[in-house]
Amino acid sequence: VMNVCLSTEHPYNHLIETLNDGRIKYFNPQKLNDQRYDKLPLSIRVLLEAAVRNCDGFYTKEEDVQNLLDWQQQQCKTEVPFTPARVLLQDFTGIPAMVDLAAMRDAVAKHGVDPSLVNPKCPTDLIVDHSLQIDYSKCAIQNTPNPGGGDGPSQNQGPSRSAPSRPLPRGGSHCGGQRGTCSKAAACSDPLASPGQPPASVQQIENTPLLCPFHLKPVSETETTLKNQGMELIRNKERLQFFKWCSKAFKNVNVVPPDVGAVHQVNLEYLSRVVQVRGGFIYPDSVVGTDSHTTMINGLGILGWGVGGIESEAVMLGQPVSLTLPQVVGCKLVGSINPLTTSIDIVLGITKHLRQAGIAGKFVEFFGPGVSQLSAPDRTTIANMCPEYNATVSFFPVDQVTIKHFKKTNFTQEKLELLESYMRAVKLFRCFDDPSEDPQYSEVIEINLSSIVPYVSGPKRPQDRVAVCSMKEDFQSCLDEKVGFKGFHISKEKQETRVPFLHCGREYQLAHGSVVIAAVISCTNNCNPAVMLTAGLMAKKAVEAGLVVKPYIRTSLAPGSGMVTHYLSTSGVLPYFSQLGFEVIGYGCATCIGNTAPLPEAVVDAIKQGDLVACGVLSGNRHFEGRLCDCVRANYLASPPLVVAYAIAGTVGINFEKEPLGVTSEGKEVYLRDIWPSREEVQQTEEDMVISSIFKDVRGRMDKGNTFWNNIDCPESILFPWDHKSTYIRSPCFFSKLSKEVPPPQSIENAHALLFLGDKVTTDHISPAGSIARVSAAAKYLQSKRLTPREFNSYGARRGNDAVMTRGTFASIKLQNRFIGKSGPKTLHIPSGQTLDVFEAAERYQRDGIHLIILAGKDYGSGNSRDWVAKGPYLLGVRAVIAESFEKLHKNQLVGMGIMPLEFLPGQNADSLELNGKERFTITLPESLSPRQQLNVNTSQGKSFIVTALFDTEMDIILFQHGGLLRYVARTFL
Ligand SMILES: *[C@@H]1O[C@H](CO)[C@@H](O)[C@H](O)[C@H]1NC(C)=O
Ligand SMILES: *[C@@H]1O[C@H](CO)[C@@H](O)[C@H](O)[C@H]1NC(C)=O
Ligand SMILES: *[C@@H]1O[C@H](CO)[C@@H](O)[C@H](O)[C@H]1NC(C)=O
Repeated sequence: VMNVCLSTEHPYNHLIETLNDGRIKYFNPQKLNDQRYDKLPLSIRVLLEAAVRNCDGFYTKEEDVQNLLDWQQQQCKTEVPFTPARVLLQDFTGIPAMVDLAAMRDAVAKHGVDPSLVNPKCPTDLIVDHSLQIDYSKCAIQNTPNPGGGDGPSQNQGPSRSAPSRPLPRGGSHCGGQRGTCSKAAACSDPLASPGQPPASVQQIENTPLLCPFHLKPVSETETTLKNQGMELIRNKERLQFFKWCSKAFKNVNVVPPDVGAVHQVNLEYLSRVVQVRGGFIYPDSVVGTDSHTTMINGLGILGWGVGGIESEAVMLGQPVSLTLPQVVGCKLVGSINPLTTSIDIVLGITKHLRQAGIAGKFVEFFGPGVSQLSAPDRTTIANMCPEYNATVSFFPVDQVTIKHFKKTNFTQEKLELLESYMRAVKLFRCFDDPSEDPQYSEVIEINLSSIVPYVSGPKRPQDRVAVCSMKEDFQSCLDEKVGFKGFHISKEKQETRVPFLHCGREYQLAHGSVVIAAVISCTNNCNPAVMLTAGLMAKKAVEAGLVVKPYIRTSLAPGSGMVTHYLSTSGVLPYFSQLGFEVIGYGCATCIGNTAPLPEAVVDAIKQGDLVACGVLSGNRHFEGRLCDCVRANYLASPPLVVAYAIAGTVGINFEKEPLGVTSEGKEVYLRDIWPSREEVQQTEEDMVISSIFKDVRGRMDKGNTFWNNIDCPESILFPWDHKSTYIRSPCFFSKLSKEVPPPQSIENAHALLFLGDKVTTDHISPAGSIARVSAAAKYLQSKRLTPREFNSYGARRGNDAVMTRGTFASIKLQNRFIGKSGPKTLHIPSGQTLDVFEAAERYQRDGIHLIILAGKDYGSGNSRDWVAKGPYLLGVRAVIAESFEKLHKNQLVGMGIMPLEFLPGQNADSLELNGKERFTITLPESLSPRQQLNVNTSQGKSFIVTALFDTEMDIILFQHGGLLRYVARTFL
């Protein structure tokens, strides 16, 4: 199960200790008796523990353990291996990985070896969520599988992936009972259906998970979901059957069925363990995943980050991730959080600091007394923001807050105690108040939490931010200033105007700054449960203190999803919202796009009469002048609790510090600070009411599976019964002619250049994702299988079919091949002089037994990671790539497929060597290779030049000699 050799030969046997009366073992790196351990950042201690435990003298060596211990000196200088506790795959990246494994079983069986021995080495969770296309949603949002994207966790693609399983805002249907008018309210329309509105909500949806890591799945098995599942089943039947077979046939594979949740959600809410207990050992949880939100998990003290599909497959096969020993920036949180600050203010404030700090490519680790003020959801939200400041991870070591969070899951008390005593024993548990525990970081950034103050923005543009404490003065200056983004130019004498009016039989007054619209909306920025609960708990305290909201103010509550209503209701705050006039008006983006019911006529008349600058306050994330209502000239965006506060105050011209929010009927002054709920209260309510129901919810869905998944029939065999008619799942030919012995190094003789490329060839050129062009080699293949272009689907969806993916290799219309004058997926078949699709040329060369290489310029293989960037060229018959330089990740991918990455000597390239690409190339390999060995290349034109073989380690050489990782792993079974 683990890469632990349990014989006495494990080099770190002497570090093994036990817990629970000897029943559970663990490696205690403290027994290395090295005082450097106590000064290591905790994230480095996690890497160290994994290196100790997985030390096999092959992938991970004692030297690596020493380098990790010597992190202070070795950071940035050495590469270290990291074997994560688990791999997280989603369906698109899972298919090729699992197909390879299934093919490996066949290959091993051909040699008479028991195929059931072939299983992932690293525990693998595969979450089926991406293939769900919304066929039946009435919303305009369509999700195409992985639109044009790679399989890597690039930040820009991540959100769109998980869009379909997230709450879709729907227009509310019931709009009765609204305040503001004495008569009945106007009908709400579905904002998504409003003509002329840009699909603003797409953006909102895509942003949502960034600030809202934990959320409930809003839909149960409604008719729509059932229909979608039906469609999904038909469309993806072969792939779902294959996944189901994987879940039964392989050990170490856990398949999460469709419709349980998006990858990051399931990871956060279901798979996270803090510690893993396997094979009698306990060790820290850690993960690499092909999901852009993988870094979220660091908020729970679980080290993890995103990798590409091919990298995740390698980890699954037992190869560690190789990383340059990172610098670790200690982010010290000090000071206390300002009372009016919400979780989102804190998250955005910390993110802003980190963005300015320039910490790209480093680890961030939080410490200092301020950390314990952040709840687990706050931490995961911050950790999820890593791509904003390009850190690899933002790690929050485990502490009491983490433990408290896991109490809300199904962790038993016994398990929690085990977890805590283990984490303490290996010094992975932090008490943030004790500075003597603080590690030594590469550098320290200090953030004083009291420097983070709440802002509102407006009055006309969302980018004009105003600190809440200076709101009164700012509004005053807006009245004074000449008309502009921050000015209304109201003459001095008119600034004092008061206009009395009658509303429902009582007299009120309006002035400049009077609030007439107040809308609490839970969308994007404010979907965070803590923020909505702050508003709700404040509403409760306001009502209890005897405060009211003036009845002419149009107040509304748009919770964003039924689940927000659910937790507002279970936490008991909904009635108080309602008493203040904030009634649930529906789930769509109502107010911010102008769908408010009209203001009372008397209010409109009073505004007009006094030429007043009346105000709207809302917690949406966008607004435009006059958008709420023509007669409301000043519009502010504020957090939900501040919306409630300004509604109670009835004006934006208030200094909350100095002036009371209101006066009770008994004449008592109540200040905002009197009713603002404490962070502890909010966090407690969040953990009790939201987090626990989220866990219950996801677990319920998981247990239930769903009717369709359970009814998928699936073969009960050890070998996968490949369906030769399938165009999605095909046994790839990576294992053809697999011999038991490692073949001797194979020289390249008289090879032709398949392609003659320039600089900056990206993975997009090498293995384009997206749609399959009708004139491509892949299209010809699919047509030969009697598919119509409508049924082609994308390259992304066909990653389980090597025939399609090989044909798709270099099929980019942007490919610039020097053999061909213009860009396109073509090349010259040199012997015949014909211009062919790259695949067709390669096929012809292969048929004629001609070796192939590729010539390229600088930065070969940059860009997103793609599964097929190395597999594709391998199946085209490419044996070596000679380039001026390689993107490191891609170089590793080539080695992993047994293709030689060869670098010209510095200063040399195809032009300086006067190569025309049409010569034939011979590269003779010595009996034994050594790292970064120089090799001679001879051309048929009599030229000779030297290249460096970019095998950096012995491991690289071994992989190359075996013909790549897959063949290497397969041979270990022989
Ligand atoms: C944080 O800032 C506040 C207000 O500026 C100050 O009073 C406090 O001393 C600071 N705390 C630390 C630890 O620097
Ligand atoms: C993060 O990386 C991207 C791409 O490499 C770069 O464009 C951006 O400026 C970087 N941002 C920061 C804050 O370093
Ligand atoms: C979670 O805990 C509840 C209550 O203790 C129990 O009924 C349920 O079976 C547990 N579920 C799992 C998956 O352990």
